[in-house]
Amino acid sequence: MSNANWRIGVAGLGTVGSGLIDLVTARPRFSPTGDTCVVSGVSARSRGARRSVDMSGLAWFDNPVDLARSPETDVFVELIGGAEGPAREAVEAALRLGKPVVTANKALIAAHGQELAALAEAQGTPLLFEAAVMGGTPAVKMLREAMVGDEVEAVAGILNGTCNYILTQMEASGRSFAEVLAEAQALGYAEADPTMDVGGFDAGHKITILAALAFGCAPTLVAAEIEGVDTIELLDIRLAKDLGYRIKLVASAVRTGSGISVRVHPALTPLDHPLARVDGVLNALFIHGRKIGRIFIQGAGAGAGPTAAAVAADIADVMAGARRPVFQAPAGSLKAFTPVSAADAIGRAYVRLLVRDEPGVIASISEVLAEAGVSIDSFLQKPVEGAGGVPIVLTTHVAPEATIARAVAAMAALPVLLTPPRVIRIAGV
Ligand code: HSE
Repeated sequence: MSNANWRIGVAGLGTVGSGLIDLVTARPRFSPTGDTCVVSGVSARSRGARRSVDMSGLAWFDNPVDLARSPETDVFVELIGGAEGPAREAVEAALRLGKPVVTANKALIAAHGQELAALAEAQGTPLLFEAAVMGGTPAVKMLREAMVGDEVEAVAGILNGTCNYILTQMEASGRSFAEVLAEAQALGYAEADPTMDVGGFDAGHKITILAALAFGCAPTLVAAEIEGVDTIELLDIRLAKDLGYRIKLVASAVRTGSGISVRVHPALTPLDHPLARVDGVLNALFIHGRKIGRIFIQGAGAGAGPTAAAVAADIADVMAGARRPVFQAPAGSLKAFTPVSAADAIGRAYVRLLVRDEPGVIASISEVLAEAGVSIDSFLQKPVEGAGGVPIVLTTHVAPEATIARAVAAMAALPVLLTPPRVIRIAGV
């Protein structure tokens, strides 16, 4: 095999784009094929922005579509982000010309993965996105390639470092969500507009992609039920810990008898569970395979170096002649998820009530649960200074989620309740 020069066009020069240019400059022959990688051109929103890497000598394109179409671009690397606009237009332009595309864009793949895969496959060109999920930690290749001999039953993990940092800091420092978020923004860990992260949407994009790879379906974002960490109170973090749990934002995709459940939500995770021990900005993922059992990976989910390394691994696959369907079957034959119907969903829940401290309160709560047919696993009444009432916390045994919801609605109507009940699921992974 004679070694070749591969010219990459890099659109988007934020943390990951700059990290990739650093990597390629320092190690242009990172590919096991011995081929050389050179950056031929770049594109970003603002040419004048201060950047950590030297752009002189690189061809500049105001429009990423022009970079994608340039005859000097052999592989188009999209690091702009966003499901629509310039990122989508430039990726489509490259694929239409039969050029390989490497992207870190989870929103784009979660929203338009099937149609982009169809375009790539019609042109016989790769579309790769390892860096879109868990940054530098190789979750996509593991599911797409290493697990195909097995049948995946479930994937579940911590896929957003910003949320995990906030929850870890709230517990460690005893500060509120708003205080820790403000600090994370000042330190540059959280975006000025944190909605994508703290609202659970970033993790929703990532679990949508992993679910598609795990179960051979089309990526369908609408299938995901998404709840973020922005409603988590310090009181619940403390009470959960007293009961032996840590609250984590868990993204999961599980195959059940009636369909596939894809969700992102805060969950009480037992303190001795590996997910409970994933602290700070780290990401982690469980994969349950029918034959292999449980695999657990943990690592950097963001950052210039780790994410650029994942992009480079995809570029190396292009150089080695990657030729497989983008997902687990040709794009045209990928079916949509069959979501589990709400009536079939089962689970356990933590319910926190703030009540007036008077006789008969616990009896009335027990009566509501008994009438609904929900069995209590643990019960804790714990006076907390400044709580403005007495917090009562209970955890349920496994029950239909709809039944638990009906019981909670009945509790909410009790006159002794001072605030609406707070319900958080207990992790079932
Ligand atoms: N914003 C993401 C996170 C990293 O906080 O994990 C990029 O996907």
